[in-house]
Amino acid sequence: MKTIFYILSITTILFASTYDTAACKKCHPLISQEFENSMHKKSSIYDDKIHKAVWDKHPASAKGDYKCAKCHTPNAKGAKAQKEGISCISCHTISNVQKHAKSNKNIYSGEKKRFYSAEAGRENEKVVYRKKSSFFGMNVTTTGSAYHDIDYTNDNFYNGNMCMGCHSHKQNSHEFSVCTTDEEGAQDKKTNCITCHMPKVDGSATTVRLSKKHAFHGFAGAHTKPQMLKEYVEFGFSKSSDGFEIVVHNKAPHNLMTHPLRVVQLRVKHIRDTKTTALKTETFIKVIGTDSKPSMPWLATEVVKDTMLKANEKRKVSYDKKLKSGDRLELILGYYIVNPKAVKKLNLQNDKASNEFKILKSQNINIE
Ligand code: HEC
Ligand code: HEC
Ligand code: HEC
Ligand code: HEC
Ligand code: HEC
Repeated sequence: MKTIFYILSITTILFASTYDTAACKKCHPLISQEFENSMHKKSSIYDDKIHKAVWDKHPASAKGDYKCAKCHTPNAKGAKAQKEGISCISCHTISNVQKHAKSNKNIYSGEKKRFYSAEAGRENEKVVYRKKSSFFGMNVTTTGSAYHDIDYTNDNFYNGNMCMGCHSHKQNSHEFSVCTTDEEGAQDKKTNCITCHMPKVDGSATTVRLSKKHAFHGFAGAHTKPQMLKEYVEFGFSKSSDGFEIVVHNKAPHNLMTHPLRVVQLRVKHIRDTKTTALKTETFIKVIGTDSKPSMPWLATEVVKDTMLKANEKRKVSYDKKLKSGDRLELILGYYIVNPKAVKKLNLQNDKASNEFKILKSQNINIE
C-alpha cells in the first residue's frame, strides 16, 4: 500500500471533542469557506427563506413536526428542529445508500472518526494517522490526519452515488414523486454529480499537505455559481425556410432543473442595425398538481404539464423571423428559482433570490 508522507516541523494540532464544521476549518480553510456559501450549509429553515416559505404552508408545520430533517438537517436529533443544515460530517460519514420507494436512505458508518473520501490513485487506501520522529526529534513525519482517519475505498464517493440518498427522489403521502434526479448521473466514475457540481478548482485541500487543486465545496447549482455549469448547456442554430431554429442541448444527465418550483426560459432578441426586438420567450417547466391544476407538492397526484429539458435532450425551438445578413441574435437561457406564479402565495415578494431571473448561459450569433 502506498503511503504519502509529509513533514511538519512543529506539530501544534488541537483535538476538538466535537466533529463540527468549525473544527474542520483549521486544516481545510478553503473548502470550509466555499461550504459556508453553499446551499448545503444553508439548507435549514433558518438560512433558506424559500425552504421556510414552503414549510410554513405545510400542514405539519402548525404542529411543529418538522418533516424535512432527513435531508435538510440530517444532524438534527429527535423531533427538535436544528439550526444546523447539512454539515461536513453529513456527507463524509455516508457509507452507503439504501433504495426505498418514498425516498432513499443514507447509511451512516457510525464511526465518528473515519471519513470517506475519493482521490485518484488511492482507491485502495485506508489512512490511519501515524507520527514518526527523525533527526533526533527535530522533525516529525506524519501520515494521514491527526484529527481523523480517511477511507478512500468507498465506491459511492467515486461514482456520485453518495449524493443519491437525498437527491434521488421524494414521494409525497399519495405515493407521487414530487422530484426526481435520474440515476444515470451517479454511475460513471468519469462524469457524475461530483465531477460536474464539485469540479477541481485552484487552492489546497488542506493546509497540512499542500495540493494545487481541491474539489469545489460551494456546490454549483441553481443558487450558487451557475456559471460554473454553463459548459453543460450548448446552443445550436440553423436557418429554416421561414425563419430559424435554435437547439438547446442539456448535457446534464438529469432534467435541467429538478425542483418543481423552478421555471427555465429561453429568451431571444433580434438586432438589426440599431433596432432590438424581443422574439418569443420559450418556457421549460414541470408543473405538478392535482385535477389538472397546480398544487403544493404534498397535495400533488399528477404531472400537470412537463416541457422541462430532459436529461441529455436536444430541444428544437422554431422562430418565424426571416433573417438578413448583418443581423444579430442574442440568446439567453436562464431561470427563476421560484415560479413567478407562486411568489405571492409563498409571501416571497421581498426576497431577492426568489424574484430574480438568473442567467445560466448567453450567446450572440452573427448572421452572415
Ligand atoms: C488537524 C488538522 C485537520 C483537521 C482539524 C481536519 N482535517 Fe481533514 N485532513 C487533514 C489532513 C492532513 C488530510 C490529508 C491526509 C492525507 O492526504 O493523507 C485530511 C484529509 C481529509 C479528507 C480526505 C482528503 C482527500 O485527500 O481526499 C477529508 C474528507 C477530510 N480531511 C475531512 C475533514 C473534516 C470533515 C474535518 C472536520 C470534521 C476535518 N477533515 C478536520 C487534516 C485535518
Ligand atoms: C454533466 C454535468 C452534470 C452532471 C453529471 C450532473 N449535473 Fe446536476 N446540473 C448540471 C447542470 C448544467 C445544471 C443546471 C444549472 C444550474 O443548476 O445552475 C444542474 C443542476 C442541478 C441541481 C439544481 C437543480 C434545481 O432545480 O435547483 C441539482 C440539485 C443537481 N444538479 C444535482 C445533481 C446530482 C445529484 C447529480 C448526480 C446524480 C448531478 N446533478 C449530475 C450538470 C450536471
Ligand atoms: C454534500 C456532500 C459533502 C459535504 C457537505 C462536504 N463534502 Fe467534502 N467531499 C465530498 C465529496 C463527494 C468529495 C470527493 C470529491 C473528489 O472526487 O475529489 C469530497 C472531498 C473532500 C476533501 C478532499 C478534497 C480534494 O480535492 O482532495 C476534503 C478535504 C473535504 N471534502 C473536506 C470537507 C469539509 C471540511 C467539509 C465541510 C466544510 C466538507 N468536505 C463537506 C462531499 C462533501
Ligand atoms: C444529506 C442530504 C444531501 C446529500 C448527501 C447531498 N445533498 Fe445536495 N442538497 C441537499 C438539500 C436538502 C439541498 C437543498 C438545500 C436548500 O436549497 O435548502 C441540496 C442542494 C444541492 C444543490 C443545489 C445548489 C444550489 O445552489 O442551488 C446541488 C448542486 C447539490 N445539492 C449537489 C449535491 C451533490 C453533488 C451531492 C453529492 C456530492 C449532494 N448534493 C449530496 C441535500 C443533500
Ligand atoms: C429526500 C430528501 C428530501 C426531503 C425529505 C426534503 N427535501 Fe427539500 N430538497 C431536497 C433536495 C435534494 C433539494 C435540492 C433541489 C433538488 O434537488 O431539486 C431540496 C430543495 C428544496 C426546496 C428548494 C429550496 C431553494 O432554496 O430553492 C424547497 C422549497 C424544499 N426542498 C422544501 C422541502 C420541504 C418543505 C420538505 C419537508 C416537508 C422537504 N423539502 C423535504 C431533498 C429533500
